[in-house]
Amino acid sequence: MRASEVRQKFFDFFKSKEHVIVPSAPMVVKNDPTLMFTNAGMNQFKDIFLGNREPAAPRVADAQKCLRVSGKHNDLEEVGHDTYHHTMFEMLGNWSFGDYFKKEAIDWAWEFLTGELNVDKERLYATVFEGDASDGVERDEEAAQCWQQYLPEERILNGNKKDNFWEMGESGPCGPCSEIHIDLRSEEERLKKGGHELVNKDHPEVIEIWNLVFIQYNRKSSGELTSLPQKHVDTGMGFERLCRVLQKKSSNYDTDIFLPLIQQIASLTNVKYGASNDGDVAMRVIADHIRTIAFSIADGQLPSNNKAGYVIRRILRRAVRYAYTFLNVRKPFLSGLLPVLIDVMGDAYPELKSQKELIQKVIHEEEESFLKTLATGIALLDKIIAETLKGEYKVVDGKVAFELYDTFGFPLDLTELILSEKGW
Ligand code: SER
Repeated sequence: MRASEVRQKFFDFFKSKEHVIVPSAPMVVKNDPTLMFTNAGMNQFKDIFLGNREPAAPRVADAQKCLRVSGKHNDLEEVGHDTYHHTMFEMLGNWSFGDYFKKEAIDWAWEFLTGELNVDKERLYATVFEGDASDGVERDEEAAQCWQQYLPEERILNGNKKDNFWEMGESGPCGPCSEIHIDLRSEEERLKKGGHELVNKDHPEVIEIWNLVFIQYNRKSSGELTSLPQKHVDTGMGFERLCRVLQKKSSNYDTDIFLPLIQQIASLTNVKYGASNDGDVAMRVIADHIRTIAFSIADGQLPSNNKAGYVIRRILRRAVRYAYTFLNVRKPFLSGLLPVLIDVMGDAYPELKSQKELIQKVIHEEEESFLKTLATGIALLDKIIAETLKGEYKVVDGKVAFELYDTFGFPLDLTELILSEKGW
């Protein structure tokens, strides 16, 4: 099933359950001091959950552009090195604003996955919140009971506050959650070890696909938890992961969402995907980051030297550095990925098409200037490393790193990264 059909099926299913389909909010947040980027589908509904705004409809569903690169939810370091984390990703969500609660959320998630999409029931696991004494919240028996209709006891697992109590940041609406995980390992592997032992253990084939959050509380900035006037449902399903499951791939990057980008990177750099681990990581990093960069610019956030703009600049530079180091790229090429990205995502997100020229220009200029900085900085650092190797310790003086940054514009985090990759 193609990714665009999966998205549509989700909308159609929740429309049939009386949900209104609403558009994604921008990925760049301009009106919330606690957040730079949309990190979850629920951000745009925060005021509704808090009781400060009336919802337009009690049930809605959407596909939300999310970015997890800063603050409480930050997946940047995993991206590219594994095959299922992203900086920007789409989150499919259904929402109840003071309307249905746990039972319907769980029933419909199950019906959609196993009925509409025919996902193998035997491979699914659900987690429920085990409770937390310091917050005075008990185990989520209600969710556990709902799951018992569908899953045997051994596939309903307790989860702690880190995994099963969802909060968007240090403060804001929150509540216990029930995650759905899927075990995608081979039959043989599954016989050797039960999937229940691998849920939430960073196994690349036993992954979370959907999080059902039962929003009941507000976390105040003092840390105190207060009950909200109404109970709400906030679900978020990783669209890229779901497509990977349905397209029977072992990596999100092999789905029709990413593969065309990987192929274009391979063709522009003349490097084969699969030829080396470093090259593959670099291609995945670039395929991931180009989406973040393009969508951020389309949403009005240009790369710059501070705040959200700096986050985007660093992501762009990270892509350039991987291309430079592992794919031998010496000339700007990232904007050459844009037509492919527009092919893949432009129908669902027309802002990519309407902002194409701007996105292309900004990426090209940023890349060109950073490539110059990189070439100078890396050559200098290589010299410094060679000098240092004559001595006893593999340590570069902080002053040197500062000088590289201050005089040559070579970012400190890159110096750190290059040295730490050498084990220094
Ligand atoms: N807010 C939850 C999450 O982001 C579910 O949408 O995981």
